[in-house]
Amino acid sequence: MEDHKRTTHCGALRAGDEGSRVTLNGWVHRNRDHGGVHFIDLRDRYGITQIVIGEDAPEAARTTAASLKFEYCVAVTGKVSKRLTPNPKVPTGEIEVLADSITVLSTCDVLPFMIDDKCDAKEDLRMKYRYLDLRSSSMQRKLELRHKTTFAVREYLNAQGFLEIETPTLIKSTPEGARDFVVPARLHPGKFFALPQSPQLFKQILMVGGCDKYYQIARCYRDEDARGDRQLEFTQIDMEMSFVSKDDIFSVTEGMMAHIFSSALGYELPVPFRRIPYHEALNRFGSDKPELRFDMELVSFDAFVPGCSFQVFKSVLDGGGTVKALVAKGCGEYSRKQISDLEEVAKTYGAKGLAWMKVTDDGLDGGVSKFFTDQPQDIIKSLNAAPGDLVLLVADQWQTACTAAGAVRLRLGKDLSLIQPGTFSFAWIIDFPLFEWNAEEEKWDPAHHMFTMPQKPYLSSLEEKPGEVLADMYDLVCNGYELASGSIRVHDPEIQKRIFSIVGFDPEEAKKRFGFLLEAFKYGPPPHGGIAPGLDRLVMIMAGEESIREVIAFPKNTNGISPMEDSPSVIDEAQLKELHLAVTAEKMEE
Ligand code: AMO
Ligand code: AMP
Repeated sequence: MEDHKRTTHCGALRAGDEGSRVTLNGWVHRNRDHGGVHFIDLRDRYGITQIVIGEDAPEAARTTAASLKFEYCVAVTGKVSKRLTPNPKVPTGEIEVLADSITVLSTCDVLPFMIDDKCDAKEDLRMKYRYLDLRSSSMQRKLELRHKTTFAVREYLNAQGFLEIETPTLIKSTPEGARDFVVPARLHPGKFFALPQSPQLFKQILMVGGCDKYYQIARCYRDEDARGDRQLEFTQIDMEMSFVSKDDIFSVTEGMMAHIFSSALGYELPVPFRRIPYHEALNRFGSDKPELRFDMELVSFDAFVPGCSFQVFKSVLDGGGTVKALVAKGCGEYSRKQISDLEEVAKTYGAKGLAWMKVTDDGLDGGVSKFFTDQPQDIIKSLNAAPGDLVLLVADQWQTACTAAGAVRLRLGKDLSLIQPGTFSFAWIIDFPLFEWNAEEEKWDPAHHMFTMPQKPYLSSLEEKPGEVLADMYDLVCNGYELASGSIRVHDPEIQKRIFSIVGFDPEEAKKRFGFLLEAFKYGPPPHGGIAPGLDRLVMIMAGEESIREVIAFPKNTNGISPMEDSPSVIDEAQLKELHLAVTAEKMEE
C-alpha cells in the first residue's frame, strides 16, 4: 500500500489545489470512455472526484483505465487541473485529476445493484449486500448523523455531570412487557440468562448505589414483531437521576435534544417543549403520540346528536360513547373511492364506519347530511367549517372514536401534504393512567412498567379506582412518534407491594423476579426517576426516514432475520448437547 497510499480524499480538492500532485484511493463509481479519453468518477466516504486519463497518459494507465469496472477499488495518482466546464453541483466540481498512474487494489464482481444515492433495490437485497449499500452517500450521511448524535449526547450529559456506566447484557428478565430473548447458561444446565429489554432495574440499582446521574448508550433486546419503528435489538439513550422531579428530567432531556439538533443538524429546537395531558392528546389529536406539525383537531359532535335522526349515532351516545368530527379543509370534491379509502383507515383502528357530509354554499350535502337537516348552519359554525370542506365523523366508545379519527387525521395530513418536511414538533405527553384494563385477561396491567410512581393525590386510594390513577410518567413525542418514555420510580417497598397486588403480581413471583431490586430498596434508596429516548427512532426522525432500518448499520429485516449473515440459524448437535438443549420443534432448515 505504501506506494499507493492516498495523499488526500475524494471530497477535498478545490480550485486552489490546481497544479498539486495527489494520490487518491477509492471506488470506481462511474467509468466513461469519450473517444479514447477515460473519465472516472472516483468515490470514497468523503465525496467524488473526476479523474481523467487522456490520450497522452502513459500506456499502462490507459490500459488499466479501459479495464476498470464498477466498484473496483483503485489508487490513482496525477495532477490537479481546473475543469474547463466546472460542475457546481459537486463540491469538487471545479477540478479534475489528470491521472498518470492507476493501480487496481481489488476487483469487484458484477454488482447486485448500483450504488446510488437513491437505491431502488429491494430492501432484502440491500441488506444481504449491506456493505455495498453502506457505500452509498445517503447511508454514509445517515451513519455520520448517528455518530454525531451519540457524540452530542455524551458531550451534553458529561457536561451535566452524568456518569456513563455499562450494565450487563446477560441478566435476569426485565419487566418491559415484551418477550425476552434468552441465552442458555452452559455451566448451569437448565438455566438461562435473559438479554435486557432495557437496563431498567440496573439503572435503578445504580441510584441505590449512589451514582446520582447515570446514562448509557444501551443495547436493548425485545422478542417482538419487527415493524417500521421497531427492531429486535435497538439502542436507547438510557438515563436515571436521583433526587429529581419530573421537571428536572424534562429540562435535562430538553437541553440534550436541543444540543443534539443544534450540533448534529444545525437546527435550533425551541425549548421547553409543550406539555399535553394524555387524555387531551387523544381527545384532540386521536393519538398519545400526536403528529403536531399540522392542526386539523378532532371536535366533539355530541351536541348535534340528540336533535338528529341518525340512529347509529344516537345509540352510540346512549351506550356511553361519543361522536368525533374532523373537518378536512378543501376536500369537498373527494370521490366516493377517496372517502371509502379513509373509511378503511378508520376501520383498521376499530371504527365501525366513517360517516361524512360535504359543506356547500347552501349547507350540508351528501352522506349522512339527510339526518341533520334541522341545524346545518349551527353544525358548520361549530365545526369552523366552510363551503368546500368535508366533514368526517366516527361514533364509538371514546378511545376507539378518538383513535380511529386520529388515524384518519394522520392519513389526511399526509395526503394533503399538510406536513412540512424537515421540521420537528416535540411535545411531552403527561398524566398517563398508571394502569390499563386488560380485557382479555380481565385484570389491570401496568401502563408503563411496575416501577412507575402514582401521582401523589392518588396514593391513598390506589386500590379503589385503579383506572383513574394517574402516573408520574411521561413520553416525549416528535412528529407522530414516541421518542422516549420515562417516569418517577417507586422507591418505597410498601407502595411497590400495593402495585404488584393491583396488577395481580404474586408476592412470591415478585420476589423471584425482582427480589434483588426489592432487597436493594431496603437500604436507603434515594427518590429517583429517569427516561430513555430511543436512539434509532431519534436518528430516523432527524434523517427524515420512516424506517429505523435506514439508520442502523446492520438491521434485521421485517421478518426479524439478517439476510447478510443469515441469522438466526440452526446450531449443530454437539453445540446443543453442550448447552443441555434439545430442539423439539420441526427443524425449518438444515
Ligand atoms: P420504553 O419501553 O418505552 O421504556 O422504551 C423507551 C424508548 O425506546 C424506544 N424503543 C424502541 N426502539 C426500537 N425498537 C424497539 N423495539 C423499541 N422499543 C422501544 C422508543 C421508546 O420510546 N426502561 C424504560 C424507560 C424508562 O422508564 O426510563 C423503557 O425501556 O423510542
Ligand atoms: P349505514 O346506515 O350503516 O349504511 O351507515 C351510513 C354511514 O354511516 C356509512 O357511511 C357508514 O360508514 C357510517 N357509519 C356507520 N356506523 C358508523 C359509526 N359508528 N361511526 C361513524 N360512521 C358510521
